[in-house]
This record gives sequence, structure tokens and C-alpha cells, in this order.
Amino acid sequence: MASVLEVRGGKPLTGEIFVRGAKNLVPKAMVAALLTEETSTLRGVPQIRDVEVVSELLQMHGVDVDYQQEEGELTITPGSLTLPDPIQVDALAGSSRIPILFCGPLLHRLGEAFVPDLGGCHIGDRPVDFHLKVLEDFGAVRTSTPHGMHITAPKGLRGKPVRLPFPSVGATEQTLLTAVMAKGFTELSNAAMEPEIMDLIAVLQKMGAIISVDMDRTIRVEGVDKLHAYRHTALPDRIEAGSWASAALATHGDIFIRGAAQKDMTTFLNYFRKIGGAFDVQDDGIRFWHPGGELQAAVLETDVHPGLMTDWQQPLVVALTQATGLSIVHETVYENRFGFTDALRGMGANIQVYRECLGGLRCRFGRQNFYHSAIIQGPTKLKAADIVVPDLRGGFSHLIAALAAEGTSHVAGIDIINRGYEHFMQKLSKLGADVTMQS
Ligand code: EPU
Repeated sequence: MASVLEVRGGKPLTGEIFVRGAKNLVPKAMVAALLTEETSTLRGVPQIRDVEVVSELLQMHGVDVDYQQEEGELTITPGSLTLPDPIQVDALAGSSRIPILFCGPLLHRLGEAFVPDLGGCHIGDRPVDFHLKVLEDFGAVRTSTPHGMHITAPKGLRGKPVRLPFPSVGATEQTLLTAVMAKGFTELSNAAMEPEIMDLIAVLQKMGAIISVDMDRTIRVEGVDKLHAYRHTALPDRIEAGSWASAALATHGDIFIRGAAQKDMTTFLNYFRKIGGAFDVQDDGIRFWHPGGELQAAVLETDVHPGLMTDWQQPLVVALTQATGLSIVHETVYENRFGFTDALRGMGANIQVYRECLGGLRCRFGRQNFYHSAIIQGPTKLKAADIVVPDLRGGFSHLIAALAAEGTSHVAGIDIINRGYEHFMQKLSKLGADVTMQS
């Protein structure tokens, strides 16, 4: 039975917490380790479900994985690889989107790969057509099987010009992980430039890859025959940091987030300040707090980096329910990322969602029947409710709302939050939250 968290809200969250490596880098760096037989070492690895799933996937492929939880150090030895039974892979796929990134490294090492039907958060259709087109461009061929797709590269993998229809994070990673050992040059246009992508490039360069990045979203890769092991410390999790920062704002709290890095959070910090939040960047982290007085409504538009990250949208929306005036939020990365506002409305928030593009950008989702814009009128007093967590970021946002609300809320399906927020229960207690887990 799924766990339910009882939250007695209305208390400011105050104190210090620590964020480790980014959920959206660590699993990709783990996959990159497959490109060599040698032992790679990744540091700053958080104890989250997504890391466990990828560790299990690697082990299924014959890889030795050793995780020292305290130190956050992961060693990965992919000496000899084998393709596991597709049924085994399929059983894990429901909880992750990472398996598709195994394709490039497995094609290089084994000449074949298997892609199960993928999981992850339900925040839109989340197709994998860009990934499949990229693999096809490199010369891969796929056949459908009852559990997914079997992929081979009968003539080997060859670099060539690749253009993404949208700067997709996953498809950019797919291209990088395939291009580094493909024959010849790959020129990727319209690439994603997220800090996690830059960190993956740093990992690959340590392994011996030749990659250059232009500011116009072009990434050039010169394929090499052999790569070797890396030692790397993952960049800090800017989504986790932004989520706790939003919790500080919504609860009138004061949180020092050790490990949070300003350079990866510039856009978030600008919006945080515009809304009326205060922050202080220190050498080893960032302190975020509600300085008292009114918060101000704002106009927000999510976008690919360096725009406002879509994963910050949900926690910020909770903070905006406490701001004075009308806020407008336009989600341009996922077509269906406002489902979580239903529960907020149930808690007293005044939020209306629209199909129209309400921001400055005319995005891909305009006039397509996707409720991808929202207007929030605040401030509204949030009241306690019984909520079911819909997805990772939406779920954390519900948790913030319950912590900000007067009264006792019950948040069901809380386990999903373990996918991306390390030790969040301990962190809640450290910050003085009045919560009890009921199972
Ligand atoms: N898209 C396609 N076809 C594809 C791939 C993507 O249409 O083949 C579309 C998606 O449907 C979406 C947009 O392109 O509308 C962007 O998707 P992207 O590929 O950039 O996302 P992703 O790689 O699947 C990663 C993170 C997400 C984060 C996004 C955007 C991981 C494991 N996930 O997803 O993180 O929101 O990039 O930054 O890295 C989360 O952490 O909660 C989360 C959802």
C-alpha cells in the first residue's frame, strides 16, 4: 500500500539542508560509463529511486555497480556486457525514461540494444520520436518486439548532420552518447544546452571524447575509436534547490541550501527576486527566505535553457498563490503540466488554466487543446486537504502547499517524491516541518 504523509501545515520551514548531484545528470553519466570497459567513478550521487533503477539496469547488463551512500560515490565497472532478457528490462522501464539512452553505448559495445516501453512522469505524451530519428540518422535499424524495440546497426554507426525539431534534453544526450564513438563527424543543430548537458559533455571529454559547443545550439563531435574511464563530481541538483527555495517562500520560511550553485540557477534567482523572495549567495550554497511583507505577482514563461526551467514551474506556482495580484504562467516545454493545479484549487487557490498561449512566446501547444497557460490570483489562504501525488514535481508542489496550508493534510502516493528528492523526509524534519508518515 502506498504511504500517506500527514502534514500539519502553517509552520515556516527554517534551517539548513544539503543538495547533492543532479537527478537529471547522474543517470546519464552512469550510462556514459558503458562506453568503456574500465572503472569509472561518479561523486555527489544522491540516494534517489532513479539512481537505483539505473544501477539495476546496469547490473542486468553485467555491469558491477558499487554505491557508497554516505560519501555519495558510485563506481561502475562495465567489464563485459550482455544483453538482458527484454522482460527483465521491461519490468523496470515503468519507472524511468533512461533505458532509451543505453542505445548508443550498447550498439558500440555489443552491436545491439533493446528499448522497452518507457515510463517517467505523466506530464504530456513524452514521445521518443526524436531519439529514434537520431539513431536512424547514425545508421541504426529497429524492429518491434512484444516488449519494445530491438535495435541493431548492421553497417556500424556513422556521424552525420543531425537537426532536432525541438532542443530536447534527452535527444541531445542520445546524440552525444552515440556520436562520441561513431565514425566521423556529427554536427548537431538545435541542441539542448542545459547545465546537465554541459556536465555530461564534461564527463565525455574526460573519457577522451572530442566535443565542441557553439552558443547557437550547435554541438560538434568528432568520433574516436576508444574511450576510457572518468572520475567526476556531478553538478548540484538545481531543480531540488529551486523546489526547497519555493517552499521557503510559500511557508514564510528561511532555508540555507548547501550545495546550491548560483551559475546554474540564474534565471530562477531572477524570478525569485521579482516575486519578492530574498536570497544570499554564499561560497558553499544559497540562503533563501521570505523577507516579510507582500509577495508580488509575476509573468512567467518556461523555456529550454537558459529560459526558466519547466521543472521549477510547479513549485513556483504554489509560491505565486501567496503573491498579490494576477500572475500569468505559460508552460512551453510540456503540453500537460498544469494537472497538479486541480489539487491546489481544492485547497483554496484561485487558478484558472487556458488553452491559449498567454506569454510572450507563441509556443508549439497554442490552439491545440492543451491547457498550458495559467492565471493565478493571489494571495489566497490555503486550506488543508487530502491529496494524491500525480508526478514528481507536481507531488513536491502539493507537499509545499500542504506545508503552507492551515490544518492537517494527507498526501498519498508520497513515494514518487523519492524518485528525485534525496532523503526528503529527513530534510522536512530538519526544517521543522510537522509531518508523520502513515503506511
Ligand atoms: N519530445 C518529443 N520527442 C522526443 C523527445 C522529446 O516530442 O523524442 C518533446 C517532449 O514531449 C517535451 C519536449 O520535447 O514536450 C522536451 O522533452 P525533453 O526531451 O527535453 O525532456 P526529457 O529528456 O524527456 C528531461 C528531464 C525532465 C525535464 C526535461 C526538460 C530527465 C530524466 N528528465 O526530460 O525532468 O523536465 O528534460 O528540461 O533528465 C523531472 O526531473 O521531473 C523531469 C521531468
